[in-house]
Amino acid sequence: RAYSKVLGIETSCDDTGCAIVDSDRNILGECLQSQQQIHLDFGGIIPPVARDLHKQNINNVVTEALQQAQVSLNELDAIAVTVKPGLPLSLLVGMNTAKELSKISRKPLIPIHHMEAHALTARLVDKNLKLPFVVLLLSGGHCLLAVVNKINEFLLLGQSIDDAPGEALDKAARRLQLKNMKEFRYCCGGQAIEKAAMKDCNFSYSGLKNAVRMQILKSEKKHELKGDEIIPEVYDLCASFQYAITKHICTRLQRGFEFIDRTKLLPEINRTLVVSGGVASNMFIRKHLNLVCDNMNFKLVVPPPRLCTDNGIMIAWNGIEKFNENLDIYTYDNLDKVDIQ
Ligand code: KG4
Ligand code: ZN
Repeated sequence: RAYSKVLGIETSCDDTGCAIVDSDRNILGECLQSQQQIHLDFGGIIPPVARDLHKQNINNVVTEALQQAQVSLNELDAIAVTVKPGLPLSLLVGMNTAKELSKISRKPLIPIHHMEAHALTARLVDKNLKLPFVVLLLSGGHCLLAVVNKINEFLLLGQSIDDAPGEALDKAARRLQLKNMKEFRYCCGGQAIEKAAMKDCNFSYSGLKNAVRMQILKSEKKHELKGDEIIPEVYDLCASFQYAITKHICTRLQRGFEFIDRTKLLPEINRTLVVSGGVASNMFIRKHLNLVCDNMNFKLVVPPPRLCTDNGIMIAWNGIEKFNENLDIYTYDNLDKVDIQ
């Protein structure tokens, strides 16, 4: 395989990212502009606001990444860009920019699936990681377990039937108004919960007690609940909530492993689990996933936090993987075939 360099652009949600990565796994340049603080102040992501911020920042982000890499457009082999899944207005900004770059440089365009990119980031970090492997993706918008059979062939084993874990964490953090506490001012929901949970050394039985009581009350159908629920301390609540989410992820992962073993979906030598997506940067969750992996004799590979959350590097790397295998490459005069979603 010849040496290659790819520029990647990510704008699927609230991060404007660009990076240049080469086939030797070097990150030559990277720039990431997060909109997190603005969305925190709005109390959630408003799609047109996200789009406007992407538009404001995209050119600077691309220029900065190229400058850092000391690479000109002409020296690239391809341009990769996230086309799905994501907020359509946000995706469009990245795709249109990538198309422009492709046209002016006459370099091919490679459309990228955001979740596949999260999964394949592990191969940027670990050059010995061979396909197939199992992947657990935990993010703000998704939760899925899959076997990665080929670069662009994922066997989906299961996914969230409702919310994603990051979404639950973000909503809980918002309800608790954690961003109004100085120490969490600059944290996304998941980070705030993780930090708050670390401060909790308390014991608590009221939740259990109340759960039992509720159950009894329900079955007896005698009384209405009185307004006497104990409102737990914030740290306590965060720790319990994080624990509950972690436990759910772990038991479902265990169940997934058992399914994989029963159905012999994975060769014995490939017993590796990759975990990625923003929520995978949570150390408490990682620690517990590690226990499940030890128990089930799986090796655990988790990219460092900055590569778990959204970034341009993962898109560029996925571009390299596709370029190497000659997959999904569109020449600069054939860009009408590329669209979002
Ligand atoms: O992968 P990502 O950057 O964007 C999506 O593709 O969704 O994930 C963002 C999610 C947010 O919900 C955020 O709260 C969560 O990842 N997150 C965390 C942590 N850091 C980010 N969740 C738990 N613990 C963290 N340390
Ligand atoms: Zn993501």
